[in-house]
Order: sequence, then C-alpha cells, then structure tokens
Amino acid sequence: MSDQPTPRTRKPFLYVVVCAAGIAGDVGELITPAQEADWDVGVVATPQGLGFIDAAAVEAQTGYPIRSAWRRPGDPRPLPPADAIAVAPATFNTINKWAAGISDTLALGILCEAYGSQIPTAVLPCLNAAQAAHPAYRPSLDRLRAMGVLVGSRAPHDPAAGGGIARFRWEEALELLTPRVRGSA
Ligand SMILES: Cc1cc2nc3c(=O)[nH]c(=O)nc-3n(C[C@H](O)[C@H](O)[C@H](O)COP(=O)(O)O)c2cc1C
Repeated sequence: MSDQPTPRTRKPFLYVVVCAAGIAGDVGELITPAQEADWDVGVVATPQGLGFIDAAAVEAQTGYPIRSAWRRPGDPRPLPPADAIAVAPATFNTINKWAAGISDTLALGILCEAYGSQIPTAVLPCLNAAQAAHPAYRPSLDRLRAMGVLVGSRAPHDPAAGGGIARFRWEEALELLTPRVRGSA
C-alpha cells in the first residue's frame, strides 16, 4: 500500500455567507475571483440577506442553490462540505450573534459549528461607525479573533454616507483564506 497522500480530486469549496448589508447585491465581485482562483463556491444568505441579492443570478454563477433555511430531516445536503467560509458582507447583527453563540439562522448555525469543525473562516465586516460604537461590537470581534477567525481590515463607514461608501474589498476574503487552505498566498 502506498504511503503517498491521496491526490485532491475536487476543487476546494468556499461558502460565502451573505448578510443583509446594502452592498450584498455585489457578491458576484467575490464569486468571480474565487472561481478564477479555482474555488467552487456556494452562497448561504441570512433570511434578511436573501432580499438583498439576485438569487437567480447567484445560482446561475455558482451552479448551486442558495441556502438560507435549514433543510428538512432526510433531505439531501444541497452543498458540499465547506473547505473555507467567507462572511461577506458581515452585518453588525450577525457578527454579534455569531460571537455570542446564537444559532437562529442557517448562516449562524454554519458559522457557530465552523469553529468546532476547524474550518478556516474570514469575516469582512460592513457596518457604520454608529453601530461599531456599541459596546457589544469590539468584544464580539475580539472573541471571533480569539476563535481564529480572520477579520477584514475595512473601517466602519460614516452613518450618513448612505450608498456613498468606499469600495468594499471583496477580494480580501480570498487574500485571508488562501494561505490557510492552500498553504501559500
Ligand atoms: C438598505 C439597507 C442597508 C443596510 N446596510 C447595513 C450594513 O451595511 N451593515 C449592517 O450591519 N446592517 C445594515 N442594514 C441593517 C440590516 O439589514 C439588519 O440589521 C438586519 O437585521 C441584518 O440581518 P442579518 O444579520 O441576519 O443579515 C441595512 C439595512 C437596509 C434596509
């Protein structure tokens, strides 16, 4: 029997967890470079986030159904298991609930279990400075970092900025995760 490692027969699978932030509709800006970098991609949206994205376009691009609700017992799993998870955009709401161990959406359930399953996970927060000033927020990020979650560098935007916020660097999720999954940048 050979002691050589079994060659990988499939591409690494990236879950993109999409929360209900105004820029969520641009998630294709992460899916495209991920696919170009040889990831397969599946999208998990929060129930609120689902209303912010073009589900048909995302499903056509990924080739997988968007997951948002739990499957029924006995139903097949719609997505392969994740090799890595990118939470982008990540809302104030989901960040705080995830850090607190609340699992009341499928997205949060996947994120809460990812820690125990040691799945590399990156989070790209997208929130304004008024939300970030809440005393729960900093400890939530600190707890996620302590759990090994890779946190994006984006600063909170001005609450009055409306749609005029700086470009969201979707590709930062791949910059953070690729070394963890593939061993080099
Ligand atoms: C147009 C619009 C844009 C929003 N943008 C943000 C945002 O950038 N960041 C954020 O934390 N919440 C934002 N929210 C509020 C979230 O949608 C709200 O907190 C929601 O409950 C988050 O749900 P989720 O974390 O389950 O996705 C926005 C709401 C609306 C209506």
